[in-house]
Amino acid sequence: MLSGIQPTASSFHLGNYLGALRQWVPLQDTHDAFYSVVDLHAITVEQDPKVLRQNTRLSAAQLLALGIDPDRATLFVQSHVPEHAQLSWVLQCITGFGEASRMTQFKDKSARQETQVGVGLFTYPILQAADILLYQAHHVPVGEDQRQHLELTRDLAQRFNTRFGKTFRLPEPHIVKDTAKIYDLQDPTSKMSKSVPAGVVELLEDPKRSAKKIRSAVTDTGREIVYDPENKAGVSNLLVIYSALSGRSVDELVASYEGKGYGDLKKDLGEVFTEFVTPIQARVREYLDDPAELDKVLAKGAERARQVASVTLRRVYERVGFLSSG
Ligand code: TYM
Repeated sequence: MLSGIQPTASSFHLGNYLGALRQWVPLQDTHDAFYSVVDLHAITVEQDPKVLRQNTRLSAAQLLALGIDPDRATLFVQSHVPEHAQLSWVLQCITGFGEASRMTQFKDKSARQETQVGVGLFTYPILQAADILLYQAHHVPVGEDQRQHLELTRDLAQRFNTRFGKTFRLPEPHIVKDTAKIYDLQDPTSKMSKSVPAGVVELLEDPKRSAKKIRSAVTDTGREIVYDPENKAGVSNLLVIYSALSGRSVDELVASYEGKGYGDLKKDLGEVFTEFVTPIQARVREYLDDPAELDKVLAKGAERARQVASVTLRRVYERVGFLSSG
């Protein structure tokens, strides 16, 4: 199993956590799990080198604080494993230009970008395919927004296998329906996203700030607390978040808020979030206090990742007809 997250912000947000990261922790017990902080992907948009380095460490610290255990899972930084870029090149050579042009994330991101759109942003999903295929991953726990990239990955794996002989295992997205898409608190029709930071709840911000954001989340003019994503997108989003963080079902929450108002729901959710995030923040601080230890964990992860990735890459190079370097 493999998944990745970009170190493009100083903090992960609630969408990242509920859509993907929450699944990462239990899966490390049932699968041989590879988790990557994908810094090669991060530079597809402009990054300040100092900030990128900081955010990469912060990302690793957050994953550890959330419960990724480097003894049970392989946690590594993508650029430490050169096979990702190497396999990506081979896969680019079997990807159709039209096929890559259909990626909706590229269309969205390139439309939003004010500076020049780099070719790396265009080939981004092919690098993601390389991430997955290098480890022969079967399960890929992600949010709904990654589904199309997973489909491309399957297409490329299938094409390579047909052309050069069975080499890759076809991956399946592991998407948890209830929390596959968490919406922005200020605009509950768009997904919560680092690149549009209006109503984004960050794991590392002051929980008082998060509680305030939750209190001022956009809801409709009605009063009744019901789960109705079409007509009551804001309230429904809050219910999904509340349910996931508290372990209580949406139905149970709806029943317990009967006769109460949005204000009550928001206040309580703020408290639930604060309770959830406070110990995580403390653990992140501990990991950051010892960057040398953190780097050691990542170096060990990279070594283990390379052991697996290099076997796949060697096979690929041989299959496509490259001369062995000995
Ligand atoms: P990234 O860094 O944008 O997001 C990390 C994970 O968080 C999920 N996610 C969400 N889930 C639910 N609701 C939301 N509002 C929300 N926002 C983000 C994403 O679906 C993702 O699972 N391309 C990937 C990183 C990547 C990767 C990979 C993932 C690179 N290589 C290989 C899996 C396998 C990305 O940009 O995620």
